[in-house]
Amino acid sequence: MSEKNIESSLHEDRLFPPSDAFAKQANLSKSEYEKLVKKANTDFEGFWSDLANENLHWFKKWDKVLDWNEPFSKWFVNGKTNVSFNCLDRHLEKRGNKKALIWIGENEEKKELTYKELHEEVCKFSNVLINLGIKEKDRIIIYMPLVPEAVVAMLACTRIGAVHSVVFGGFSQEALADRINDSKAKLVITADGGYRRGQIVPLKINVDEALKKCTTVENVIVVGRINNNPQPSTINHQPLTFSWHELMSKSSAIHKATELDSEHPLFTLYTSGTTGKPKGILHSTAGYLLWATLTTKWIFDIKDSDIYWCSADIGWVTGHTYVVYGPLSNGATVLLYEGAPNFPDWGRFWKIINENKVSVFYTAPTAIRAFAKAGLDWVKKYDLSSLRLLGSVGEPINPEAWMWYHENIGNKKCPIVDTWWQTETGGIMISPLPGITSSKPGSATLPLPGIFVDIVDSEGKSTGPNEGGNLVIKKPWPSMLRTIWGDDERYRKTYWSHIKGSYFAGDGARRDKDGYYWVLGRIDDVIKVSGHRLSTMEVESSLVSHPSVAEAAVVGYPDDIKGEAICAFVTKKSNIKNDKTDEDLVKELKEHVTKEIGSIARPEKIHFTDALPKTRSGKIMRRLLRDIASGRQTTGDTTTLEDVNVLEKLREQEE
Ligand code: WT7
Repeated sequence: MSEKNIESSLHEDRLFPPSDAFAKQANLSKSEYEKLVKKANTDFEGFWSDLANENLHWFKKWDKVLDWNEPFSKWFVNGKTNVSFNCLDRHLEKRGNKKALIWIGENEEKKELTYKELHEEVCKFSNVLINLGIKEKDRIIIYMPLVPEAVVAMLACTRIGAVHSVVFGGFSQEALADRINDSKAKLVITADGGYRRGQIVPLKINVDEALKKCTTVENVIVVGRINNNPQPSTINHQPLTFSWHELMSKSSAIHKATELDSEHPLFTLYTSGTTGKPKGILHSTAGYLLWATLTTKWIFDIKDSDIYWCSADIGWVTGHTYVVYGPLSNGATVLLYEGAPNFPDWGRFWKIINENKVSVFYTAPTAIRAFAKAGLDWVKKYDLSSLRLLGSVGEPINPEAWMWYHENIGNKKCPIVDTWWQTETGGIMISPLPGITSSKPGSATLPLPGIFVDIVDSEGKSTGPNEGGNLVIKKPWPSMLRTIWGDDERYRKTYWSHIKGSYFAGDGARRDKDGYYWVLGRIDDVIKVSGHRLSTMEVESSLVSHPSVAEAAVVGYPDDIKGEAICAFVTKKSNIKNDKTDEDLVKELKEHVTKEIGSIARPEKIHFTDALPKTRSGKIMRRLLRDIASGRQTTGDTTTLEDVNVLEKLREQEE
């Protein structure tokens, strides 16, 4: 979080209690909550066992709630269930004709699917997958725009026990190829394109390029988003490529969901860590679904009458847990919007809420800040009175943005749930409960029942009120990641080696005198640009892969809208004859990173320098670069610096 924002959250003491009206109708009442907390504290396994019994459909119950062999967990051991069955089949009787999806395309198209229709599509696509020879545990890459077919594809994978790995449509072909190769995927599901700000995102072309570097993929399925039914002439034949539309038109709508083991791998999702190589976070079936279901019910207070909209893309974990699995498992009506928040103008989101009577809305602080900047006129044009609950996720929400959201979108009557969690946690860990918790702007408030978090120093000792330290989770939880795909050792090292016996989240936080948690931001080399997680090392290795670059150091610096923006310090190769101007090279490097990773990683600022500030042992002192990029005075120790002059030179340049 930027200095200014930390400063304002340090002095924040306003309290917003839930209204009586909201509390009265909330899914979770204060007395039930207190019972849950007590049960979790006194009978941890019994607590989870009761919830799993009450909230999921099981083909077969488990023998044992938890098998914990740190850092590896197995939940609901030997139970049998199916995610797609829980999200679809179990609702058919009561909600068959209820809308499951309301999809809005960027060009104003609209499609609606009832639970019955969605179930039928998923059954058909499950048969398509089986007919292509997909077996349990095979990996499938989904690289698609936010269209209903993407949700169908995800659910069909879970229905037959294939492991999906959704790759955000904004990622480049290089990033796509890395993910295909790391997961050894057999199938890629994509579209001939997607719409973003009026432009066509060339998804299929990216797949074709990526596949030149991959050997495991046997088939590609292409949804016709731009051309309704892409003809074979527009889709290449290496490997075998099929049109979604054609396969579906021949497929049977009868499919019985496979009875899968509780620990059956459900999906992997790649996310940035502290090194240059993204890690495939692995989630498994029953525990993940249980927590997705419960948190959606408790935190978003889902009712049958709600129109629920989470604006995240399915390429991120929020799009997995709170666009697809959590809400559908609760039988909710889910709105999907394909396009950009400012297309054709900054009123787009409010227009969607107005026209579809959205009642629960979940978005990111970076979007809220951008809307606030765009101005109230865009908001005032629309009737937002259908809203009854608002949510925020992805980075700390600064109190100013919280208040703007509260006053202008929530009309001072909607509770705001500021939800802290991570790709790794699978579901929300710290959040207000909307009928129970009094909110403080900027605080994710308290851990949920069954979740045991703490703030500790480097020795693992709990810190006192407002002292600050490392955010850790002290007990396993059902939706925790099971490992990093193919790398148990990296899993152990990254999350379980910093603080003995605890999961290390990588976030810095403080706990105030009321026990409320204030997450301050990452303490590792991970940065959050518009809520998107990036590793500084990932951007650095992309920069040094450019022929003119000798060395690069990348840091985040505060940005009013994006939260953090990227600044790169680059030394040029001296042996290369460089006839380009610095200005041209800056442009070229920005393009290079965009091509290698995606536009979310494009550096905002690039500075050329003859040398980088290093310790005598050769380690780049990023702390000093962060000070320079943010225009701060360096107050910390600089005595380990090998050459003090480097710092002075860099400062002169920045000014
Ligand atoms: C990191 C996880 C969780 C789904 C989307 C992002 C930051 C997330 C909050 C919040 C403060 C937050 C943390 C965390 N973060 N939510 N409410 N308050 N910080 O998932 O990409 O895995 O990123 O996002 O730094 O570690 P992710």
